[in-house]
Amino acid sequence: MSGFLLGTVRDIVGDDLSGKTFCDLFAGTGAVGNALKPHVRQVIANDLEHYSFVLNRNYIGNCTPIPDAKFLISELNDLPPVQDGLIYQNFCLGSGSGRQYFSDENGQKIDAMRQAIERWHQQSEIDDDCYYFLICSLLECADRLANTASVYGAFLKRLKPMAQKKLILSPADFICTSQQNPVHHADANDLIGHITGDILYLDPPYNVRQYGANYHILNIISEYKPLVFKGKTGIHRYRRSRYCSRVKVFPAFEELIAQAQFPYICLSYNNEGLLSPELIRKTMEKYGRYDCISMRHQRFKADNDLNRAHHAHNTTEYIHVLFKQG
Ligand SMILES: C[S@@+](CC[C@H](N)C(=O)[O-])C[C@H]1O[C@@H](n2cnc3c(N)ncnc32)[C@H](O)[C@@H]1O
Repeated sequence: MSGFLLGTVRDIVGDDLSGKTFCDLFAGTGAVGNALKPHVRQVIANDLEHYSFVLNRNYIGNCTPIPDAKFLISELNDLPPVQDGLIYQNFCLGSGSGRQYFSDENGQKIDAMRQAIERWHQQSEIDDDCYYFLICSLLECADRLANTASVYGAFLKRLKPMAQKKLILSPADFICTSQQNPVHHADANDLIGHITGDILYLDPPYNVRQYGANYHILNIISEYKPLVFKGKTGIHRYRRSRYCSRVKVFPAFEELIAQAQFPYICLSYNNEGLLSPELIRKTMEKYGRYDCISMRHQRFKADNDLNRAHHAHNTTEYIHVLFKQG
């Protein structure tokens, strides 16, 4: 998809993107911004979810090598597990939480690593770039070993073979460039009035499934704030997106397009989404010249990969393009 999008952006804007600012407003894993990063002058990334902010802060925001990265990763791998952490206490069976999102040992290792990263940062032993690089590395490694069928809305009763593997941290390497790329953690509609650029890429959720619920454990690892977790799944109160609400999505979308200060706007949306292709066309047409490119998608099997919820099955993916005037 990222390759397809790069080609589409070049068709729209021209081959030379080196002077352009590209904004990925619903950035998720950061895969799109990462594909564009070597080709543009600047990437602006944003997402409502904290774990996505961390992934983007590393992959998009980080542009120069992290000194001592190898050493710090091996220090974290050598830490003894701890039993007093958020993940083990609330999301592993051995603590009596009744939940089993990770094996006991992996839960204790996630806590040991996350606590050390926080301590190093608070004691100014590591800077912000390194802090987010390490949390991003931990998020991705932990996510691969989660005891879930797909997302974190539920855990499996028995530990699946992948969840029994031992957590070994590996670096979340990013592309080095000479850019300065701002990364935000905001609601898209709150941010849009405060940013400008050349190409605005929109890949909002398509359906009513809230990311804050589906990925709550990743937000807990990334924010690491002591909270009280209740109920079978332990899902805490989360920020609801208007883009996942049948009633609120259209006004939110219309407001976003009206406020956007970008000459080129590309919206990825499939034909099974809350907004119909027709409604999208009518809305975008009010603000300039409109075009639409479609691409058939193959079904992606749900697996433990942070990209998992970002692809639909056998759907037609549309890229709606607006050449915004005024
Ligand atoms: C379809 S995914 C984006 C996938 C992304 N293109 C990728 O490659 O990973 C939609 C993203 O929008 C984010 N999101 C949902 N509502 C939002 C809002 N109101 N403002 C900002 N981000 C939002 C979700 O957290 C999710 O990461």
